Amino acid sequence: MRSGLRIPVPGDKSVSHRALLFGALAVGETRITGLLGAEDVGRTAQAVRQLGAAVHEAGHEVVVTGGPWHDAGAIDCGNSGTTARLLLGALAPRAGATLSGDASLSRRPMRRVLGPLGRMGGQFDGGPTLPVAVRRAAMVGAEIVAEVASAQVKSAVLLAGLGAAGQTTYVEPMATRDHTERMLTGMGAPLRVVASAGGTRISISAGPIHGVRLTVPGDVSSAAFWMVAAAIHPGVSVTLTGVGLNPTRTGVLDVLRRMGARVEVEARGGIEPVGDVTVTGAGLRGTRIGGAEVPTLIDELPILAIAAAFAEGETVVTDAAELRVKESDRVAAVVEGLRATGGDADARPDGFVVRGGQLRGGHVLTHGDHRIAMAFSIAGLAAPITVDETASIATSYPGFLATLARVRGDG
Ligand code: S3P
Repeated sequence: MRSGLRIPVPGDKSVSHRALLFGALAVGETRITGLLGAEDVGRTAQAVRQLGAAVHEAGHEVVVTGGPWHDAGAIDCGNSGTTARLLLGALAPRAGATLSGDASLSRRPMRRVLGPLGRMGGQFDGGPTLPVAVRRAAMVGAEIVAEVASAQVKSAVLLAGLGAAGQTTYVEPMATRDHTERMLTGMGAPLRVVASAGGTRISISAGPIHGVRLTVPGDVSSAAFWMVAAAIHPGVSVTLTGVGLNPTRTGVLDVLRRMGARVEVEARGGIEPVGDVTVTGAGLRGTRIGGAEVPTLIDELPILAIAAAFAEGETVVTDAAELRVKESDRVAAVVEGLRATGGDADARPDGFVVRGGQLRGGHVLTHGDHRIAMAFSIAGLAAPITVDETASIATSYPGFLATLARVRGDG
C-alpha cells in the first residue's frame, strides 16, 4: 500500500438522501453541492421526481425544486433502506405510492417504521416488509419512544410529524445520527431538541420548510475503508479530505485510536462539521465496542472487523444486533468472510468476536452487500483475498475500485 496519499471521499450518503428528499418537500429551490452520485441516492432522486419535484444538475450543483406532492404509483427503492424508510414517513401525510425494493431490501424490517406511523394515523397496505402501499392520510402528532436505535425510523417519524396536526415527539434513549434534525432546522422547520440524562426528545409540528444551499460533506463511512487500510499497515499514512465529522458518526475514529492507530483531525465548523483526517498505521490491539458507541459506527463494523483481524488480541462487538438486518446479515457475513480467509472469529446474537493475528488469504462471498465487498477488498491489500462480486459497491461508492488501484500503486 502507498503512503502519504490524500484521498477525497464522495458525498455522505445519509446527507445526500436527506438533501434530495427535504428539498422536494421545501418551498423554493434547494441547491446541493457535493451530492453523492451513487445508485442508492439515485433511487431517492427518482422517487422525488415521481412525486412532483424537479431535480436537475446546474454546473457543480444539483438543484431540487420542491412542491406539493402527488400520488406516484410504483416507486422502486432498489437496495436503499434509507430511501424506503424515510419515504414511508414523508409520504404518509402527503401522497400515495407503492414502495418496492430488490431481494435484499424486501427482506428488511419495515414494521419499526409502519408501527409508529400507524399510531399517528398512517394508512398502509401490505408489510411488514416491502412492498408496502401508502395511502395519504390525515395524521395526528404523537409521542413515539424509539424501540431500536435507528436514525431512519426517527427521520420517518419527524417527516410525518412535519405534515401532521399537533406536535410529534420522538424520544431517543440512545443517540443516532442527527442529520435530519440539523437539516430540517436549517430549512426552518419548527423542530426542538431537548437532551437529558434519560435521552433526547425531538419535537416537531407542521410547517413549511424552505429551500436552502447545502454542502454535502464527504462520507465518513466511505472514508473509514481507507482509514483501516492505513491502520493495518504500520508506518503507512493516508489523509482523507473533506470528511463529515458529525459527532454522531465518528465512533470509528475513537475505535482506531483505542486500537493504537494514530488519528489526527483538522475540523471546520458548519451545520455539518467537516475536516481532514490523517490515519497512520501501527501495531494494533483488540478492543471492545458496545453500548452507545454502536450507533456512531454501525456501518463501519465490517471494516473494523478487518482492523480487528490484523490486531493483537481479541475484539468484542456487542449491542449490535442491528447488523443482522442491514443489506446482508453482516454478523454472519463478516464471520464467514474472516473464517474463509484464515481469521478466527465467532458470531454472537448481537455482534461478533474476532481473535486477531493475520489473514492468510482466500475467497469471500459478499452476499451482495457493498460494505462486505469493500471491507474484504481492503483486507486484500494485506493478504491475497478475492471477493465474489464488486458490483454492489456502486450502491454507495462508485469510485472505490479506482481509489483502491491508486492505493495499491497500480492506478
Ligand atoms: C442511516 C441510518 C442507519 C445506517 C444507514 C443509513 C440513515 O440505519 O445504517 O446506512 O441515513 O439514517 P438505521 O437507521 O437503520 O440504524
